[in-house]
Amino acid sequence: MALRDKILDQTAKVGVIGLGYVGLPLAVEFAKAGFATIGIDVDGKRVDAIRSATSYIQDVSDKELRALTASGRFTATTDSSVLKEIDAVSICVPTPLRKTRDPDIQYIADATAKIRTYLHAEMLVTLESTTYPGTTDEVLLAEFRSAGFEVGKDFYLAFSPERIDPGNPQFNTRNTPKIIGGVTRECAKLAKLLYEQVVERVIPVSSTRSAEMVKLLENTFRAVNIGLVNEVAIMCDKLGIDVWEVIEAAATKPFGFMPFYPGPGLGGHCIPIDPLYLSWKLKLLNYNARFIELASEINTAMPEYVTSKITRALNRNRKAVNGSRILMLGVAYKRNIADIRESPSLDIIRLLEQEGAEVAYSDPFVPELRADTISRQSQDVTAENLRSYDCVVVVTDHSDFDYDLIQREAKLVVDCRNAIRRRADNVIKL
Ligand SMILES: NC(=O)c1ccc[n+]([C@@H]2O[C@H](COP(=O)([O-])OP(=O)(O)OC[C@H]3O[C@@H](n4cnc5c(N)ncnc54)[C@H](O)[C@@H]3O)[C@@H](O)[C@H]2O)c1
Repeated sequence: MALRDKILDQTAKVGVIGLGYVGLPLAVEFAKAGFATIGIDVDGKRVDAIRSATSYIQDVSDKELRALTASGRFTATTDSSVLKEIDAVSICVPTPLRKTRDPDIQYIADATAKIRTYLHAEMLVTLESTTYPGTTDEVLLAEFRSAGFEVGKDFYLAFSPERIDPGNPQFNTRNTPKIIGGVTRECAKLAKLLYEQVVERVIPVSSTRSAEMVKLLENTFRAVNIGLVNEVAIMCDKLGIDVWEVIEAAATKPFGFMPFYPGPGLGGHCIPIDPLYLSWKLKLLNYNARFIELASEINTAMPEYVTSKITRALNRNRKAVNGSRILMLGVAYKRNIADIRESPSLDIIRLLEQEGAEVAYSDPFVPELRADTISRQSQDVTAENLRSYDCVVVVTDHSDFDYDLIQREAKLVVDCRNAIRRRADNVIKL
């Protein structure tokens, strides 16, 4: 049976390589739509967790997982030989940076090599991992061609960037429109048809390079605007102006303005990293992506700026950082999720500890923090506990925190998120 027909009558077997924040919710959607779905991950613990219906991703519930694994519609494995029976596979592996801040596409290369071993007639391969323009052609297509397969005829290849926003109660895999770019027209058509089974709106673009660039435009747009507003926050501080009031007022303009908010620095697996994939690619073409470099410079300096604010705030209370007890509220990189990857909180902890501070944290989503040299447990936010610190720093504005209590009981608060709306002498805003 042709792949098109298998997709339409849902007899196509779907595979998802990489079962993380992106891959697991996607696999769940395919299984919910009726496709026999196999998740493939190198992490045996994740595979075991799925088999025992224990979700490790906040946006997927145990109940949902149990129903899909019990019905046999969703299975997980570390064994990539299952690819020989898969009709359509989506690659959702990480795309981090190397220590030198260059793209590290080893995970994509590894997934590609696995697929190449089992590539077969009519197989559709879609790359979802965020990466620089040209990856689908230069890495995947080149590898599959070297195995003697002809794209658009023997197999199909597309790029479709993931746009998931973990912890977002309004937008999920299903109702977030999805971009598709195929290597050939037939590739785009089949990839569109497949994703239309699980996503409400699929938007085709003319090539895989365009689709790769769409994602980088979206994330660069955010990184640059956050960089701009972080610099505006620094300027407002120097001018003695409340940046939050300025943004709120500017946001009343019904056209031509979109509010972005300052913060302690960028975090997560996307915004601090993805634009650097683009600037790296442009460097190879002798072009310097200036907006990206500047935004990255400003955003990565924010933890140092926050640390200097804490130092000044303590100084006002005749305290030195050295020997001070500081409580960080929130170590996840954004509100209401548990993800600590690239979190600016970790940098702030390190900077404060270098200066001799004693730093504790509280985060209802991260009961235990283990990151390089940092290892400790979350503290309770009680009135007594709050009173025992020289400074409390709101780094992540989780909605679980009681901000009235924090403002009332803490000696000093440095609020990086405008979480405490009341003006008070003991609260210093970013
Ligand atoms: N997290 C987000 O909010 C988000 C949003 C949009 C796009 N993205 C992009 O999606 C991609 C995946 O990100 P994520 O956050 O889901 O990552 P993740 O780290 O949560 O999950 C990746 C999974 O891939 C597995 N893996 C790694 N190499 C593998 C291999 N060779 N074979 C099989 N499994 C392998 C890992 O064990 C892990 O379970 C990245 O390119 C990221 O930039 C992420």
